[in-house]
Parts: sequence; C-alpha cells; structure tokens
Amino acid sequence: MTDSWATFGTDLHVELRGSGLRSGLMDALREAVRTGRLTPGTRLPSSRSLAVDLGIARNTVADAYAELVAEGWLTALQGSGTRVARRAAPRKPQAGVVRARPPHRRPTYSLHAGTPDLASFPRAEWLKAARRALTAAPHEAFGYGDSRGRIELRTVLADYLARARGVYADPERIVICSGFVHGLMLMGKVLRQRRVREVAVESYGLDVHWNLLTEAGLRTPALPFDGLGSQTGELAALRAVGAVLMTPAHQFPMGVPLHPDRRAAAVDWARGSGGLILEDDYDGEFRYDRQPVGALQGLDPERVVYMGTASKSLAPGLRLAWMVLPEELVGEVIEAKGSVDWVSSALDQLTLAEFIASGAYDRHVRGMRLRYRRRRDQLVRVLAERAPDIRVSGIAAGLHAVLELPPGTEGSVIQAAAWQGLAVEGVSRFRHKDAPTGRDALVVGYATPADSGWAGALDALCRALP
Ligand SMILES: Cc1ncc(COP(=O)(O)O)c(C=O)c1O
Repeated sequence: MTDSWATFGTDLHVELRGSGLRSGLMDALREAVRTGRLTPGTRLPSSRSLAVDLGIARNTVADAYAELVAEGWLTALQGSGTRVARRAAPRKPQAGVVRARPPHRRPTYSLHAGTPDLASFPRAEWLKAARRALTAAPHEAFGYGDSRGRIELRTVLADYLARARGVYADPERIVICSGFVHGLMLMGKVLRQRRVREVAVESYGLDVHWNLLTEAGLRTPALPFDGLGSQTGELAALRAVGAVLMTPAHQFPMGVPLHPDRRAAAVDWARGSGGLILEDDYDGEFRYDRQPVGALQGLDPERVVYMGTASKSLAPGLRLAWMVLPEELVGEVIEAKGSVDWVSSALDQLTLAEFIASGAYDRHVRGMRLRYRRRRDQLVRVLAERAPDIRVSGIAAGLHAVLELPPGTEGSVIQAAAWQGLAVEGVSRFRHKDAPTGRDALVVGYATPADSGWAGALDALCRALP
C-alpha cells in the first residue's frame, strides 16, 4: 500500500520545524505560500501521499489542510483537490528591484540571416519519427552511451552525407555534437593541445565562431577575399597557421562558392604543411539552379574536418550537428569531448536517424528548397521593380542574399528599415577586423520569416532601400 502511494500524486518539499507536527506543517505551508514558493492555484499532494512522504499520520495532514482552508490560505473543492487559494498572500515586490522599463518596440519583421523558416518545421513527420524511434529504442539507449553519439544516427548520416554531399564518411569517424559551435569548440581544444597557435578564418563570417577559437587560445588571422572566395593561396605565407576555417560550398555571408582552383590550393596547403581544413557546410543542401556544390572533404578526408548541422535544414533549436573526422583525429576529439561534455539527447538522435532513414529528411529538404527558391526569385523580381539600382548577389544557394548599397549608406538603410519595423543586418557586422573595409551591403535572410510575414518583410525592405 505504502509503495503504491509513494508513486502516486505530486512531490512537495516541506521542512517540518517546531514541536507539533500539525502546527509545524501549517507553518511550513504558510511560509511557502507567503514567499511565493507555492503560487496561487498550485495543487497540493493528497493528504494521504503527503503523509506517506513525511512519515506522519494522514489525519495530521488532513487537519492541517482543513485549518489552512479555514484561514483562507488554501481551498478545497470536490474533484479538484486542495490548492493554494487564488487570493492568498500576494507576493510583495522585493526591495531594491528596479522596475524594468517598457521594452523597446520589437520589430515586426526580421530578415536576419541564420535561421530557416521556423514555422515550417515538419512537426507531424518529426513526431512520427520520434514515436517510431522511441518504440524501437533498446533499453541501453536510455543510458549515458557512446560519447561519439548514437550508432544508428552515425550510420544513416554516413550514407546520407556520402549520397547527398559527396562526403567520404564512415560511422566510426563521425561524432555527433550540439550544433556546429560545439564541434568548433572541440576542434579549438584539440588544436591547442596539438600546439597550433593560429587558425586562419575568412574575411567574412560570424564573430561567435572566431571568438570561440580566440577563447581556446588561438589567433585568427583572416584570409583575403575576392569574387572567387577566400584566397587560399595565401595560406602558405601564414607560417603559424595550423588550420583554416571555411565555408567552401557557400561563403557565409557573401554567398560565393569557393573557386575550384582555390579549393585545390587549400587542399595542397593542408597536405604540404600537415594543416587541417575545418569545413563548415552549414547550408550545403540548399542550392537552387543546379546540383549543390559537393563538400570539399571528398578531396582529402584525411586533411578535412567536415562539419554539418541540422540548424538550417531543420531547426537550430534541435542542437544537432555532426563532424566527420580524419582518422588520426577521432581519438583526440573523443578525448576532448569527454564523458561529461554536452551530449545530444539519445532520443533526439534516434529520431533524426529515423527521420533520415525513412526519407522524411530528403522530402523536407526538397520541399524547403522549392519554397526558399520561390522566395529568392520573388526577392529578385520585386527588387528589380522597386529598387532597380540595387545589385543582388550570392543567390545561387543558401538562405540569404547580399544587396549592394550605395557607398556610405549601410547604417542609414538599417535605421530606415528599423523605422519600417524590419530588423536586418549590414555586411559590416560580419567583416573580420583584419579585413579591408569593403562595399556597403545588406545581408538579407529571406528564409527567416514565416510565410505569413514574408510579403510584409519584403515590402518593408523595399521602403527602406534608397
Ligand atoms: C556560417 C554558419 N555556420 C554554422 C552555423 C550553424 O551553427 P549551429 O549548428 O551551431 O547552429 C550557422 C548558423 O547560423 C552559420 O551561419
């Protein structure tokens, strides 16, 4: 009997103090309500289960509840149990707490680059995959597991990446991580342990990524950039550089694919110097006018660390990403990850494995590719009509475009957009401090709004442009 009551009801932490059990319990409950720990409407455990938990007689709890009801602290309604009364002791504002100012008006629209259309997350298909994955999961899946990640996911990823991205992938070389940033952190740690001092980066990119490397103790000189992508031929001149971080399939945010000669030069440098290429393939699936540009990793799997993520193809909130490692790095990365590092939930990993294996991932990506392409085409068409002087580039792939602006106008256009209720960023936000000042431009994340907000965002953008 006791056992069954112990698993029934809800948990309530009370510390009985003082002499009498009943009065001690009443004091503890009053105190919990007064301090706001128990909020109005909170359902209390039944007298029976609380009595079992506290090791006291049920009548003692029932009497304490009845008195607190009589005092107005609690209410007891047939069928709804005993709850903290709605009007019980309102919490006083804490002394010294400054009242927050009313928040700034939030922009109505966002064209920030970096997020897919979150309203298009394939909830129904994901739920089906989660159900199938949970049903099939072996008991050991609920344990701590392999720090490389679930073998089921590594196996389907190896097939998918080979098929869709031209990656040479073996499940034994794949490590699942919590987003690309996590993989980059691990690589920063490994490179420092290898006594690397510098990791070259691109002239344009995300400062969070550069900062992660800096925090790992690495300097991040920037490679010069032009219309063909990053000038990888310059790597040889950077003597202290032991690795280079790049977005070869679709430079972020400038949008150009790395020219084949530059790809070859990067691989030649890595082979000749023993350096590593950290390939950030963040939106490789989204290319619109022809086949996606394959991953650089296929050119030399022993010199390239391939990093992919579900953040653009599905949703950043999943925090699921993968690294395909050169064989010599597998042990070091696993060691850097350790057993207590963030490991993605086994259930999410199994769900993604099922999602990919069932074909739902391909269907989702293909469907989204079509939708994003329509948006991109619409962006180009509307700009040609309403802002014909603005040149659009970087549109062959990905989820964002670069809109060139007249010199010196970037700040004022962003401000004008804010007046239109639109949040959008300029290219200077993504420029490395070593890079020469370039053209003024906007980076427009056309995948970001939900369908319902897209037309409004586009109109606000056009109004803000010169
Ligand atoms: C250039 C680039 N790399 C990688 C990522 C993905 O990061 P994560 O997997 O940590 O969400 C993003 C997302 O914004 C990105 O823009």
